[in-house]
Amino acid sequence: MNKYYLIVVVCVCAVLNVTAQNTWVVPQDQKEKLSMVEFTESMQKSGADVFAGKCTACHGTPGKGNFNALLNPSPDDPASEKFQLNTDGELFYKISEGRVTMPSFKSALSKADIWNVIAYVRSFNTTYVQETAEKIESNIPEGTVLSLNLDYEEEKKALKLKLTGTLNGEESVVGGVEVTLAVERYFGNLKIGEGKTTNKSGLAYFILNDEIPGDSIGNVKLIAQVVETELYGDIKTEKTLQIGAVNNKPALNAERAMWNTVKKAPLWIIFGYTGSVLAVWFFIFYVLFVVKKIYALGKEDIPEDQKVI
Ligand code: HEC
Repeated sequence: MNKYYLIVVVCVCAVLNVTAQNTWVVPQDQKEKLSMVEFTESMQKSGADVFAGKCTACHGTPGKGNFNALLNPSPDDPASEKFQLNTDGELFYKISEGRVTMPSFKSALSKADIWNVIAYVRSFNTTYVQETAEKIESNIPEGTVLSLNLDYEEEKKALKLKLTGTLNGEESVVGGVEVTLAVERYFGNLKIGEGKTTNKSGLAYFILNDEIPGDSIGNVKLIAQVVETELYGDIKTEKTLQIGAVNNKPALNAERAMWNTVKKAPLWIIFGYTGSVLAVWFFIFYVLFVVKKIYALGKEDIPEDQKVI
């Protein structure tokens, strides 16, 4: 009796677990989040590029149903009804946060990039009508073109970000805007510390406490960006500086450092693998050959004088 009771409990738990996995609950305030801008064709185009590079591997091409069906829960086709039933805010939240196999993209993609992907995904839904959020007024006069500058200050051992705005040919510094700094890595970007707000002189400093691993000559590619892209636009600057630790190991994307494709696998792995496969086949054929020999021997007539009995 007790045994059956246990089995029932385990089954119920398993079912509940599966149902819990299938409903991906998004916080109410996030659900209602809307894009500040209307989706345009150029946003869809940029979104298509991001999608091709970062999403196709699991989600396939929208509308083709060629998503990776081996994954559980299923990633689904972005053009599917289930996928499209998400609100814009839900899509934004799920892409940013991720869940289990679905990666979190909040550090790999800017908010503007995520909206571009959503614009692209929505282009496969003919009944979709976009609702945009009411514009929040920024404290910067309209028409100001912002730009972000990045430099290294040797004596402070800090990276200095400077935000300036140009309006009617006049340049001024812009304070009170949150900015982040990250190092580009092969798999997403690595943030340096927390976001910082630019001061009255438009400056924000990111102190380097730990050494950043660089490439073979210590080069590090840095990406600085404004956080509130909905308010200020996608303001971003990238710069390669020689401030990292010299790293002589081959980069993950270098020739013959990855193991997932023959073109990139180290030669010793290819030879080792091929050698082992050949050895196993050789052994199988050898065994078959010996079996055949034994069989043939068994069929031969044994001469009278050699018979035991
Ligand atoms: C490594 C595989 C993988 C990659 C890469 C990936 N996804 Fe996913 N995605 C999944 C899986 C698996 C799920 C289902 C997750 C779940 O329900 O827990 C999912 C779910 C989602 C959902 C929620 C769908 C729904 O019906 O609620 C969205 C939205 C989404 N992905 C968008 C994206 C976008 C956009 C990208 C690229 C920027 C991306 N995904 C890249 C595997 C992936």
